[in-house]
Amino acid sequence: MQIISQLDMLRTTVSDLRKGGETIAIVPTMGALHDGHLTLVRAAKARADHVIATIFVNPAQFGPNEDLDAYPRQLAEDAAMLAAEGTAALWAPSVEAMYPDGFASSIHVAHIGDGLCGADRPGHFDAVATVVCKLFNQVRPDLAFFGEKDWQQLAVIRQMARDLDLTLPLADTIIGVPTVREADGLAMSSRNRYLTAKGRAAAVTLPNAMKAAIAKIEAGHPVKEALSALKAALISAGFQSVDYASLADAKSLDPLDALTGRPARLLVAARIGGTRLIDNMAAGKAQSERAQSGRA
Ligand code: PAF
Repeated sequence: MQIISQLDMLRTTVSDLRKGGETIAIVPTMGALHDGHLTLVRAAKARADHVIATIFVNPAQFGPNEDLDAYPRQLAEDAAMLAAEGTAALWAPSVEAMYPDGFASSIHVAHIGDGLCGADRPGHFDAVATVVCKLFNQVRPDLAFFGEKDWQQLAVIRQMARDLDLTLPLADTIIGVPTVREADGLAMSSRNRYLTAKGRAAAVTLPNAMKAAIAKIEAGHPVKEALSALKAALISAGFQSVDYASLADAKSLDPLDALTGRPARLLVAARIGGTRLIDNMAAGKAQSERAQSGRA
């Protein structure tokens, strides 16, 4: 596997890989890889001839008081994991290569990027959309793979690709891969390694309380009550705060105060021991399947 940090070298590698008309899938990451990322690579390999993974800890998407400096960087270890999965190339540009002096552009994806994490982390999704647009333009992949764990990020990227006519990848070739979870149900995340043993033990309350809230909502309890109980469960397990807990339309991310028969998602962000965890799960699956089959 080639590790590339210069754009001209990347372009040469991409055109070499494409020589026989082969397809390329991109797996953008910030490194500190875990099985969730490797699942993306495996999904990408199943759909394209070659996979290019990217590792770039994008400073622009971290707020002033966030964990940019602490964010784990382990390029050699990550590269070994990617090579073992049969990744063709790793694009790992420097900050200077991505943001040369005088860099002045930014993409804002309105509405879908404004609420939830967008409200708590101003500018975050502008920076994500901008860097992903750059990565798409640099690699020009046929397919792109992202984890559903970052549900809102995936929605922002799909909207951006659609709006800006990024023909490669097409909006419907941006593939969301289901969240990979630890054995106890906690969603895998590079940030889980910040958790102390006590925090890690308490963190499992997040998926458990989400499942309990979904069960209540699906059983017809008021959404507001189910969300209040979810927040209370997190706080009593040791979470310091809950940034948001929201039932939303799975596509538009508009908040819902009841299931509608269309796909819905429960999305939560909460802080434990200084670590911000996010998770999301499908809600009302049974209802939406009934509605789609005309049995609503
Ligand atoms: O999900 C991530 O790792 C990052 O937000 C991404 C998509 C690589 C953009 O920096």
